[in-house]
Amino acid sequence: MTLDPTLAAWFDAHDQRLHDDLFDFLRIPSVSARSEHAGDVTAAAAWLHGHLARIGFTVETHPTAGHPVVLAEWRKAPPGAPTILVYGHYDVQPPEPLELWTSPAFEPAIRDGHIYARGSVDDKGQLWLHVAALEAHLATRGTLPVNIIVLAEGEEEVGSEHLAPFIAAQRERLACDGVVISDSTMFAPGIPSILSSLRGLAYLQIDVTGPNSDLHSGMYGGAVVNPAMALARILATFHDAEGRIAIPGFYDRVHPFPDAVRSGLSALPHSDTEFMRHLEVEALGGEAGYGTLEKLWHRPTCEVNGLLSGYTGEGAKTVLPGTAMAKVSCRLVPDQDPEEIARLVQAHVDRVAPPGVRVTVRALHGGRPWRADLAGPLYDAAARALRAAFGRDPVITGEGGSIPVVNDFATLLGAPVLLVGFGLPGENAHAPDEWISQANFRGGMRAIAALWDELAR
Ligand code: BES
Ligand code: ZN
Repeated sequence: MTLDPTLAAWFDAHDQRLHDDLFDFLRIPSVSARSEHAGDVTAAAAWLHGHLARIGFTVETHPTAGHPVVLAEWRKAPPGAPTILVYGHYDVQPPEPLELWTSPAFEPAIRDGHIYARGSVDDKGQLWLHVAALEAHLATRGTLPVNIIVLAEGEEEVGSEHLAPFIAAQRERLACDGVVISDSTMFAPGIPSILSSLRGLAYLQIDVTGPNSDLHSGMYGGAVVNPAMALARILATFHDAEGRIAIPGFYDRVHPFPDAVRSGLSALPHSDTEFMRHLEVEALGGEAGYGTLEKLWHRPTCEVNGLLSGYTGEGAKTVLPGTAMAKVSCRLVPDQDPEEIARLVQAHVDRVAPPGVRVTVRALHGGRPWRADLAGPLYDAAARALRAAFGRDPVITGEGGSIPVVNDFATLLGAPVLLVGFGLPGENAHAPDEWISQANFRGGMRAIAALWDELAR
């Protein structure tokens, strides 16, 4: 199995232009979380719409109560050919802290074979490589061997709130034989990977309010309950000494993971020493009794994502803060339910909150976990296509991150979902200096182009 030489030659001949186009896409600061960027998110949708139309797709941009959904279709494959839905997201995470970027977040730059920019790997670069693979087929042959639906959203990084209702409303039109998504990573450089699971998410904000204003910590400290200390005490009750989550009911729907999962993990070349060296930490933490990949991919978590209270500027200021706030996310595994988990955390916080402060817990967004058994023609075709592009068989991995809509695809469309990503460990997704490797950008385009041929076999 090799990539069709005509397609390979097209990719070689158009390499610069495919990079230039990606750079244009990356320059649009489509930060979905920030209302001041709403126009940029729409501009990214329009950019994508324009490209898909130019290569021969019928394209519609659907406004939602949030950011738009781009829906593009090409349905002229030979009779009997499968229909595949390609999903990706064109929104990105906020780029802050800006001062930690080596080159500006929205001015793409290449260094050492890496393309640096916010969204380079998550997910504009990976969405763009799909568009390039489609263009390669249409430009060289005037046709595609499969029918394709492209569905791109601008709200993935804020929880995909409006996408499930859109999919439900368009269910018949989106009916397909498989969903293909590139929004994840390869296990290691040169090792193509197919993902078999994603964790779900319940994201919460905890606000603690004490006295009616910040106070002099000498005049009031000791007698007035300190909201920052109250919040710290609440957060400290979330885990026991063994790293287990101590929120009553949290594990009620968690099952021991299947033997197949355990044996699959032991086949992967993971080293804790390497992992720690890479992160520059001297020890790892978490739930006792599980290995690192088990903890990352198949066990639930409850983590603080942000803390805010009191004086955090230069030097010292003696103040008893009037408020404190924490952002908390729980990563979920089958069969945990994000709404139920949010309720359990709320109830637990209400129980442990000390008197003298008011505590509120709000659920911000969530998504369900997903696990697949990876059998069938879509996965077989993917294994062959990855071999053609990367020269070796893929490994099966799991993922600790979340893509909320994956579970919706599986349940609303009843189609198998193939998650084949081209990011890499260390890619700095959501962090300063996010990058995608050029080797994977190129390999990804070729693998996806090969996938459409392999599926039509
Ligand atoms: N692409 C990621 C998910 C991901 C991360 C997959 C790493 C594989 C490896 C996605 O864009 C993402 O970050 N999702 C959010 C979802 C949330 C905001 C609802 C996440 O996991 O934090
Ligand atoms: Zn993503």
